[in-house]
Amino acid sequence: MKIRAAISASAEAPFEIAEVELDEPRRDELLVELRAVGVCHSDLTMKAVWPQAISPIVLGHEGAGVVVAAGADVTGVRTGDHVVLSYRSCGACPECATGHRPYCRDFRALNGIGTRPDGSPTMRRNGSRLYGSFFGQSSFASHALAYESNVVVVGDEIDPVAAAPLGCGVQTGAGTVLNVLVPPPEASLVVFGAGGVGLSAVMAAFASGVGTIVAVDPVASRRQLAAELGAAVTIDPGAGDVVDAIRRLTGAGATHAIDTTAKGAVVNQAIEALAPLGTLALVGIRIPDFAMNVQSVMSGGKTIRGVIEGDAAPHEFIPRLVELHRQGRLPLEKLIRRYDFGDIDVAFADAASGATVKPVLQFDLNSC
Ligand SMILES: NC(=O)c1ccc[n+]([C@@H]2O[C@H](COP(=O)([O-])OP(=O)(O)OC[C@H]3O[C@@H](n4cnc5c(N)ncnc54)[C@H](O)[C@@H]3O)[C@@H](O)[C@H]2O)c1
Ligand SMILES: [Zn+2]
Ligand SMILES: [Zn+2]
Repeated sequence: MKIRAAISASAEAPFEIAEVELDEPRRDELLVELRAVGVCHSDLTMKAVWPQAISPIVLGHEGAGVVVAAGADVTGVRTGDHVVLSYRSCGACPECATGHRPYCRDFRALNGIGTRPDGSPTMRRNGSRLYGSFFGQSSFASHALAYESNVVVVGDEIDPVAAAPLGCGVQTGAGTVLNVLVPPPEASLVVFGAGGVGLSAVMAAFASGVGTIVAVDPVASRRQLAAELGAAVTIDPGAGDVVDAIRRLTGAGATHAIDTTAKGAVVNQAIEALAPLGTLALVGIRIPDFAMNVQSVMSGGKTIRGVIEGDAAPHEFIPRLVELHRQGRLPLEKLIRRYDFGDIDVAFADAASGATVKPVLQFDLNSC
């Protein structure tokens, strides 16, 4: 079928919105008509570093929409269901089987090679191969092919614009708090970077009653938002020594920290700011190699762990987030600014500059 998609040809080129041909769903595939799609910093990073050999590509991995067709083998989702799209997983490897689906052994083949795992492209343009299958969706498009493992039914009460970021950024930040760190009420949690992921961590920590929440970000409007969402203290890293400031607040240091900046210097600040036996979750992607303060980790008995997608299994976790949102405890709207799909370059520029925390693109159904 003919769809509209935002094509990324290189790091420098703006998106080109064009008509492309999408395969009909195979037996295990669902066709989703997108209503909204969030922009995650990982889309910015991937646009910048995506290999030329598998370009042009259609990115986008925070889709929300309605199922319009389902292959014969699909059992858990039906035409007409309102859904959020997340990452794909195999469901059968040891990590999937124990509920740690973000560490699926087939994660890359299912989410990041630009084609289906068998090498076939899902999209073509003027007869030539177009890469897609990004996170099993490529949802910078009017329609996406997706799979039962990454399609979560959310009902029609939640606005798709609010629902879209649940598929990655919100799941990642909230899941890091609720599934991985699980800080108790007496904990002190420092979130480095108050973007979509960091602020989702702040909201989840506040909702779960964490006593002291601190947010660090150079952008004043983001610090302001962090304070509104539950951070007791916010720190401007340009205004003085961040580690000193955290120690003044906490005494021995923070019990928990999250890095969403992907900057080596900030990771070292986070390590230094931890109390003995504290835990740092690394969430920011593609941290360049740097000299880590190993001595502080070792002598303080500190734990550093990487976290993908909040260690969340989407079918269990996204409905929990929808419920928190319904209760008013996950006020996602405060992070979101809406853009027309055609303004995707503006949305990317605003995410990069810090002007918008979570851009969400909306589709004009009449022009799809
Ligand atoms: N691990 C995962 O599964 C996963 C999932 C989604 C996103 N990510 C990654 O998480 C990171 C955050 O994503 P996002 O969408 O929130 O991006 P974002 O750009 O909105 O947030 C990053 C924030 O870091 C702040 N920052 C920059 N320098 C800083 C400093 N010195 N100290 C403190 N803060 C600083 C920025 O101002 C910004 O607000 C990205 O690297 C993204 O690729 C990882
Ligand atoms: Zn698996
Ligand atoms: Zn993402």
